[in-house]
Amino acid sequence: MYTFDREKYEKRMEWFIKARFGMFIHWGLYAIPARGEWVRSTEEISKEDYMKYFEEFDPRGCDPAVWAKAAREAGMQYVVMTAKHHDGFCLFDSQYTDFKSTNTPCGRDFVAEFVEAVRKEGLKVGLYFSLLDWYHEDYPHYGDRNHPMRNNPAYTNENRDFDRYLTYMHNQIREICTNYGKLDLLWFDFSYDDLRGEAWRGTELIQMVRELQPDVIIDNRLEVSGEGYGSLATGNPSPYHGDFVTPEQMIPPEGIKDVNGNDMYWEACVTMNGNWGYHATDRYFKPASMLIKKLVECVSKGGNMILNIGPDIHGNIPEQSVRALKEIGAWMAANSRSIYGCTRAGIAKPENGRVTRNGKHIYFHLYENSIGPVPLMGIAKEDVKAIRYLATGAEAPVSTSWTHSDYPDILFVDLGPDPVLPDPADTVLEVILK
Ligand code: GLC
Repeated sequence: MYTFDREKYEKRMEWFIKARFGMFIHWGLYAIPARGEWVRSTEEISKEDYMKYFEEFDPRGCDPAVWAKAAREAGMQYVVMTAKHHDGFCLFDSQYTDFKSTNTPCGRDFVAEFVEAVRKEGLKVGLYFSLLDWYHEDYPHYGDRNHPMRNNPAYTNENRDFDRYLTYMHNQIREICTNYGKLDLLWFDFSYDDLRGEAWRGTELIQMVRELQPDVIIDNRLEVSGEGYGSLATGNPSPYHGDFVTPEQMIPPEGIKDVNGNDMYWEACVTMNGNWGYHATDRYFKPASMLIKKLVECVSKGGNMILNIGPDIHGNIPEQSVRALKEIGAWMAANSRSIYGCTRAGIAKPENGRVTRNGKHIYFHLYENSIGPVPLMGIAKEDVKAIRYLATGAEAPVSTSWTHSDYPDILFVDLGPDPVLPDPADTVLEVILK
């Protein structure tokens, strides 16, 4: 009988809820067709036709250290890379398959290189592992909801032994939990239809993972997918409950609470364009200023944001992502205290921005200026010790203007004559309480 240990749980989650901001990396064979990581499924490509990318895989100059450095410079505190995605191709030297990067012309174990590079940058390291595997013969083909051969009756599921597949999957998870040092985060993906929980032999799997990596935190997708919270939200957690909820390509309107109304830990996973894996023609990249505001939104609702990069087959981060990461990094260099270790402020969202909080430090994120002095709703004047521009430490004086004399109970700050705020994306005021 599984007993949820709240104290142990809160302890292992500490770094994650302080970190608030991570990098996701989706990279693998699918970067060659360059039409996203689901290309084998969406285009119903046969294994034979997909194998040409395997023969060709020789990522010249790919250097995971470049990714790790970009993450640190952007202010990200952890990095999660796909060790194996749904296509079944392993970026690690698995003894259970030949479909791995160490068997390609480059002969490299990219997971080994990745974990070393991320640790060298002083960041937490995570691995994404797909529960689906479109390469393995024992995984359901015909009639499965996602398999590339789902519509081809020639790929019936006779003689496919799913339990044999699960043993393969568990063995590979044992490999990544054994051969690559201390892992901080495991990102399983994803459950669907009847394939969830015990259908993955979840209890056995998590027992093994926790024995090998006792401090690792695990997402909720052994039970659900980007939709659904998982059993931790029900107050009756299963042995394979996730440690955090994983809203995908959206930010929960009010954060996430369990059945008892307690805040849950969650991480919104977000792409910079519309694809996780490299996509040569998807140029619809979100502006950096928007991504900064989405990170603030996640934290203001008690959550994390993990932001994805999809390098090309040579390991190059798309130029649009490089530029956005640099702009986000500049903002974080000046304002990360309003992100790291912060959460909901317990104050209503202001009209012109958002609020985050870390104890006695309340951060007002101003996205546009007010007409006249700026009201800081929800703060009692007598509680205030100081108000500063977070980026510069300069004092933001309390306003004594006649223009708001009708509202004596509301705290207004005087940001001076310039109607344009110092930071066009997000100017942060730090209110320090007594
Ligand atoms: C979804 C996508 C998968 C991606 C994951 C990242 O599960 O299907 O391709 O890796 O989201 O969150």
